[in-house]
Amino acid sequence: MSLPWILGAAAAAVAAHAGWRRLELSRAKHPSLRGHARMALRVSRWVPYYDLQGERFFSADGAPAEVAEQRKKAFAELSSHFQRKAPRTRAMTREIQAMAADLEFVNAYRVPFAFRKTVQAALPVGSVYEHSDGLRLTDPDGNSYYDLGGSYGVNLLGYSFYKRCMAESQAIAVGLGPVLGVYHPIVLDNLRRLQALSGLEQATFHMSGTEAVMQAVRLARYHTRRRYVVRFCGAYHGWWDGVQAGPGNPLPARDVYTLNDMSEAALRVLQTRKDIACVLINPIQSMHPNAAAPSDGTLLAQRQPKGSDPAAYRAWLQRLRQVCSERGIALILDDVFLGFRFAPGGTQEYFGFQADLVTYGKSLGGGYPVGVVCGSRRWMQRYREDRPADICFARGTFNSHPYVMAAMNVFLRQLEQPEVRALYAQAGSLWSERVERLNRSLEGLAVPVRIAAWGTIWLVQYDRPSRYHWMFQYYLRRRGLALNWIGTGRILFPLDVPEADYREIETRFLAAAADMRDAGWWWGEGVLTSKTLRRLQMREMAAALWKRLRGEHAPQELQPAPPGQATAAAEPWAQAAPAPNAELAPAAASPRPAPELRAPELVHKD
Ligand SMILES: Cc1ncc(COP(=O)(O)O)c(C=O)c1O
Repeated sequence: MSLPWILGAAAAAVAAHAGWRRLELSRAKHPSLRGHARMALRVSRWVPYYDLQGERFFSADGAPAEVAEQRKKAFAELSSHFQRKAPRTRAMTREIQAMAADLEFVNAYRVPFAFRKTVQAALPVGSVYEHSDGLRLTDPDGNSYYDLGGSYGVNLLGYSFYKRCMAESQAIAVGLGPVLGVYHPIVLDNLRRLQALSGLEQATFHMSGTEAVMQAVRLARYHTRRRYVVRFCGAYHGWWDGVQAGPGNPLPARDVYTLNDMSEAALRVLQTRKDIACVLINPIQSMHPNAAAPSDGTLLAQRQPKGSDPAAYRAWLQRLRQVCSERGIALILDDVFLGFRFAPGGTQEYFGFQADLVTYGKSLGGGYPVGVVCGSRRWMQRYREDRPADICFARGTFNSHPYVMAAMNVFLRQLEQPEVRALYAQAGSLWSERVERLNRSLEGLAVPVRIAAWGTIWLVQYDRPSRYHWMFQYYLRRRGLALNWIGTGRILFPLDVPEADYREIETRFLAAAADMRDAGWWWGEGVLTSKTLRRLQMREMAAALWKRLRGEHAPQELQPAPPGQATAAAEPWAQAAPAPNAELAPAAASPRPAPELRAPELVHKD
């Protein structure tokens, strides 16, 4: 055989091998857009904004006129409640929102974007509180709410406990004050305790969970000299570019493979590729593998109850552990969210496995901001004895801040108290009894709401489709139950909710569901299907896109109100409350198009 033939055959073999590996990678991705971050990013830029105003707001699901009328009346009543309630809190919120981009964003994404304008004008929600007492929050007008949001999961042992941590930390650390770059003696005890609970020799301290994950990934790359991070579809690991692929991050995914969770194809990729430095796991995904945390802003039609399957997830983790060990890939447990929720030793204890690196955050800071990476020395070392210039850099001015370290110590000690151990022991049965009872009552009310729970973590699910499930957050709030960040997606309780408080919450929850049912928002049982609703929505989007392509931008004109019918501008709420930021963003300005597919994770922000 001549040389060109040999070279040609070799090139073809190499190309075939590369093609095969590419194919394997494709098969290991979730088939939806969620599994294809680059494409999702591209598509998200095409989702056109449009606005369902006036009558269309009430009949976006094709409900008959009398149902739309019933909704409209209920909406006006709800609006007047929110307009009257908490004037100081609302005024402050509005002013803060005009200057705090975070609040502006979160408020915009509480509901699907097509309903946003009307809702913002009609149902102003306060985001300012002055006081907490147990689970109750009080706003500047003196209104009290039960907090169901749990401060992104920080509130594991109750606000009163964290207040104590913070007060005690002052007493411990005040002598040293804000001296940084050195350690308060309390750090020694923290390190010993972290070592014991993580089963790992070393730790680094950071200021947020995001930074802890950044550092863990950097260490994995440094020690493996490989480039790629594997994360599983739907999982949140903080908001930095390196692990947040898809809508929400303007940069297209680089150096990240987003694979199908709990899948053989993903394991095959890990077994065969040589460019993978680490695998990141966030075990909250066992509640909704391959899906992001539910949020009302992205709710299309229906969220089916799922709940976790710890046995299946445990088996998956064992296999993942084995493959990572075989392939020299760092297995990083991102325990920032679940952390100490199910066991004082964290998720490793609960699922019975050992990760190479573990990140913690949230409640570990005892009420202060924190991120921690724990790892074996083999993964944590940041320099090489034999190559002194080859280092892995990480800093942070406020790392190991004495007050944070002291509050962490109060938290870590608390985990060992018998009363806390007792809470862990009883949490499983207590919370499943509570959830079962609530679900029975919800069924009795003939409402589509169901709770899928994993102990104190609840997902609010809907067992049939509707375009208005997101309204439930306003009915809950009206009954004094506040979900401060993502609408009705996720509820987080502390481990210890006294029975009297829980009963009160349950009563209010049921009342809110009945209110919403009676207002007609859940019309459509046996009539509406997810397919019908999706088709309706696609049609709206196509019309809006067409307008955009033709250079017309007038979202409000998408569905002009027929003569004689009220327009949103004529509605009482439109006059009663200026849209937030009205001064800054005149009505003609176009809000950024909102990807219904997957709003950035910070909407959910575990
Ligand atoms: C699993 C997980 N990792 C990382 C983070 C980021 O932590 P932080 O918000 O403290 O930056 C979060 C936050 O919700 C999280 O849930």
